[in-house]
Amino acid sequence: MLRKKVPNNLRASLLRSAKKVMKNAHAPYSRFRVGAAILLSNGKIFSGCNVENASYGMTNCAERTAIFSAVAQLGPRIEIRAVSVVNDQGVPCSPCGACRQVIYEFGPDATIFFHGADGPRQAHITELLPEGFRRQ
Ligand code: THU
Repeated sequence: MLRKKVPNNLRASLLRSAKKVMKNAHAPYSRFRVGAAILLSNGKIFSGCNVENASYGMTNCAERTAIFSAVAQLGPRIEIRAVSVVNDQGVPCSPCGACRQVIYEFGPDATIFFHGADGPRQAHITELLPEGFRRQ
């Protein structure tokens, strides 16, 4: 994979979008608000927050909300170049396993920015999800 560097200005825009959308989270059960923003290879940014449900398993993570919103707007031929994830508690939070697989579907070369155990971190999607499942 190419692992093309995401310029600092784009990374900053992504972070800003993620922080803004985090405020829209519906998280009355966990009280953990999450915001995510994705940068597409066409330069567009989409964002999403976590949306919880009284039936807890129906919860949609911020990352998937952002990705599904992009697909709904632009169709399935999107390529995710980068993802930024933030939470309202400033604690470590990398994308969950399900979101990693969904990111990989549309961004096999994506860079993920998140709060790691020792502060801000970035990782290639294949570091977070080795041997991700693909059909094509
Ligand atoms: N959550 C996300 O939205 N993204 C993540 O990367 C980790 C977890 C949400 C799901 C749930 O609403 C809350 O955080 C607590 O797990």
